[in-house]
Amino acid sequence: MVAIHRKPAWAISEALATPEDAFLNRRTILKAWGLGTLAATAYAALPKSARAEGERKPAGNPALYPAKRNEAYKLDRSLTPEEISSKYNNFYEFGGSKDIWTEAQTLITNPWDIEIDGMVEKPFTIAFADLEAKIPLEERLYRHRCVEAWSMTVPWTGFSLAKLVEFAKPMASAKYIRFETFNDPSMASGQNGFLYTWPYVEGVTMAEAVNELAFVVTGVYGKPLLNQFGAPIRLALPWKYGFKSVKSIRKITFTDERPVSFWEGLASNEYGFWANVNPEVAHPRWSQAQERVLHTGETVPTLLFNGYGEQVASLYEGLESEPLYR
Ligand code: MTE
Repeated sequence: MVAIHRKPAWAISEALATPEDAFLNRRTILKAWGLGTLAATAYAALPKSARAEGERKPAGNPALYPAKRNEAYKLDRSLTPEEISSKYNNFYEFGGSKDIWTEAQTLITNPWDIEIDGMVEKPFTIAFADLEAKIPLEERLYRHRCVEAWSMTVPWTGFSLAKLVEFAKPMASAKYIRFETFNDPSMASGQNGFLYTWPYVEGVTMAEAVNELAFVVTGVYGKPLLNQFGAPIRLALPWKYGFKSVKSIRKITFTDERPVSFWEGLASNEYGFWANVNPEVAHPRWSQAQERVLHTGETVPTLLFNGYGEQVASLYEGLESEPLYR
């Protein structure tokens, strides 16, 4: 089974680049293997009661939103309207197309526990509602640049990842943080497929995690986070390609081993561990020199570290031999 999961690297990497094609690829492969009907049956068997429950009770506490804006984070362009950013998402747990926002309503976010383990003083589990109430929230306006060469500008609400690190009390020997998304095919249709290895995993170094820009997101547009954005809790790492900003986090592990992320495990030459935005380092199959701004349709030059070099460039000094930009 695992061997089949890890199947064709060409199809998988294409999937992140052009999800619509990937969807067709998956269907073609399914058909060729005689599995189309089986997959369709599993899909249809998703519990609708779960969907209704998830819609009824979102996780975030609306009374905590909107939070005060932190004016230190300014944008060089207008905000992307919610109507556009909330209907153009990557969330492969719900399918490979950009319009997964309807499908993502099956995600049940209440109750939602987050496990914190690995190299910490004492592993523990905390309910999302308790975490959201414990650390003061603020709003930040961030640029968001996808590896697929489109971008948007989003008003995220949350708190700095540094605050979460402090709360988790890691040991001095921890070098990385590994983030893991939920894994539940009964509420995420995409997890019924066999081309990907679930759950979605991402990782950062401790130095990246405590950089002032690394942000834990619990809300957007002055409200609790919508399902399609990765409710109830996700990351925003605006100097990196969007795939590093893992959604719907269930587990946070402090470790001294570099985590192998979801996309890196599938195509390490295309979606590396570091994945910092750099217009001069092309993806193996397309240029990263420019980006399409979703809400204006304009094509504009991409900036090194997505314009956040002042805050993050020092993190990568001395690491020039690493593949920092892919
Ligand atoms: N997190 C999970 N769990 N699953 C995903 O498929 N996609 C990533 C990232 N986080 C993804 C994820 C990618 S490729 C991008 S570009 C961003 O989420 C998209 O975030 P947005 O939909 O809020 O724009």
